[in-house]
Amino acid sequence: MARRKKTSVTHSSGWSGAFMVAGVVFALFSLYLFARRGYYNVYIINKVLGSTAAVLAGITLIMGPIARRTKDMISFLPLRKELGLLALWLALLHIITSVLFLPNKFPLSWYQKEWLPIAFGAAAILIWLGIAWLSHEKHIVRLGPRLWRQYQSWGGRIAFLLIFFHLVVMKWPGWLRWWNGQVKTSSELTNPNYPPASLFVLAAMLLVVVIRTYNRFRKRKINRSLPS
Ligand code: HEM
Repeated sequence: MARRKKTSVTHSSGWSGAFMVAGVVFALFSLYLFARRGYYNVYIINKVLGSTAAVLAGITLIMGPIARRTKDMISFLPLRKELGLLALWLALLHIITSVLFLPNKFPLSWYQKEWLPIAFGAAAILIWLGIAWLSHEKHIVRLGPRLWRQYQSWGGRIAFLLIFFHLVVMKWPGWLRWWNGQVKTSSELTNPNYPPASLFVLAAMLLVVVIRTYNRFRKRKINRSLPS
């Protein structure tokens, strides 16, 4: 009885913590985009949804390596599953909004032109849905916790890289235009000198790649230095 109570407390605090982190990231992107663009509507919310999902996915990937080094972070580790699920929900909302609610911004012809980054995004979401499906208890029992953890960790990394390509392939022409000073003030852009919000998503994602790569090399070095 006592044990059941403890589990449900941990679970609900996991969700409230995850909502708090997601809320902060969502608010920061919203404020920044409002400051840059000068308005806030579904088009902006859609950018915020995709950006928050990408950043949350990144946070779930670095929580493990950071917790192993900084003991204070260990208490945040139980949030990881909830953060991952929130990232998945936000990404699904981003896709639904892009496809159904912004036909003027993104008509079929836009998808035909941008088929490659969209294919990367679609592959990422399919892998994420697969991981969520495999996380049902009956599948974990059937696979065994070891194999399930391997699927989960490789699936998460591959999906993250696919999101990275979704972002970079779609956005780099716009980044170059901004860098070359070709982006001017308009009714849709109050402050063109502010960097595009997607560049901050890029920076966050690159940081995740750097931390994971550094962690991998460190682990290899430690393994090599251990007596066989
Ligand atoms: C079939 C799958 C997907 C579709 C149809 C899709 C659609 C779009 C569209 C239309 C844009 C352009 C938004 C704009 O320029 O305002 C975009 C950008 C973006 N997408 Fe996706 N997306 C998909 C998957 C994903 C996933 C899985 C993620 C992340 C978890 C994601 C994150 C982003 C980000 C960060 C941007 C840049 C936002 C910005 O411009 O600031 N997308 N996506």
